[in-house]
Amino acid sequence: MTIKTSRAEGVANVTINYKKCNGCGLCVKVCKGAPLIMRNGKPTVDQTRLFGCIGCGKCLAVCPEDAISVEGRDLCTADVLPIAPREQRASYEHLYNLMLARRSTREFSSRMVERELVDQIIEAASSAPMGLPPSDVSVLVLDGRARVRELRDAMMADLKKIKPFVSHSSLKLMRPFMKREEYEMFGSFIVPTMEAFISMEAEGVDWWLYDAPLAVYFYCSPYSDPADPFIAATYAMLAGEALGLGSIMIGTSGFFFKYSRRLRQQYNIPANAQQGLMVLFGHPAVKYRKAIRRRFAKVDVLGDDSMAHQN
Ligand SMILES: Cc1cc2nc3c(=O)[nH]c(=O)nc-3n(C[C@H](O)[C@H](O)[C@H](O)COP(=O)(O)O)c2cc1C
Repeated sequence: MTIKTSRAEGVANVTINYKKCNGCGLCVKVCKGAPLIMRNGKPTVDQTRLFGCIGCGKCLAVCPEDAISVEGRDLCTADVLPIAPREQRASYEHLYNLMLARRSTREFSSRMVERELVDQIIEAASSAPMGLPPSDVSVLVLDGRARVRELRDAMMADLKKIKPFVSHSSLKLMRPFMKREEYEMFGSFIVPTMEAFISMEAEGVDWWLYDAPLAVYFYCSPYSDPADPFIAATYAMLAGEALGLGSIMIGTSGFFFKYSRRLRQQYNIPANAQQGLMVLFGHPAVKYRKAIRRRFAKVDVLGDDSMAHQN
């Protein structure tokens, strides 16, 4: 069996160089798609088992003898890279400090985001984990203020069309069909936000996309895990932070790309694309001097220890 996605039809091909293979079996151990099994002390490929090769590349990545290559499902030997030595990778402390220093940025300087930085962000974000390889995430890059403004104007035109339905009076009519939390969110956040987008625009203020010089929209095919574009967007945000850029996620844009046919056509986004997430980037115009510790709503830790106490 093969897992079919929008750009993967068949299995990937696994080649084992038996002159190099030492029969350690590590490749078989990490192969969860299941085509690799041990036979007579050597790994062998049986593409009929479970999913066949999905092209995850774990076998070639773990092989101590460089004896395996995988081709197909968007994986090829040119994509196999050396891993940087430990001391060149971010420590927990470095990563945590980077994460703590990040603040959603809504004030951007007039400077453009250099093309090289855009490429680095996309490159880093494409290393994000995905539900299933090959990634079914697509990326729309709006490079430059004029492009970002064009999107804001297109979304604004759509918003003005739906505005009569997103108002406090229509919300009251819809109340019997809505869950309490939905009603409260619409009343306290969504309706006032939509109203602010429109009123701020009338005052010449971009309160929606903050006149950012770069917008990157991550979305995915219907085959994809819906979390994939959000994870990629998060990676992109952290990459931007490491490059000295400010960034902010824009949740509302996903709604407009999902429900506005005109917008999808304008930006060549397939009709069946799942709702994605946009990240704005730019050189920050303000400098934050303090980090802020946040807390999750709830953290329940169920460990073996507590189980022992119960018994
Ligand atoms: C999924 C997601 C969507 C967001 N959408 C918006 C948005 O549309 N507009 C906006 O101004 N901020 C948006 N934000 C930014 C949040 O408001 C921001 O993360 C929050 O205020 C906390 O600030 P911090 O990121 O500096 O910790 C979004 C954040 C996330 C994670």
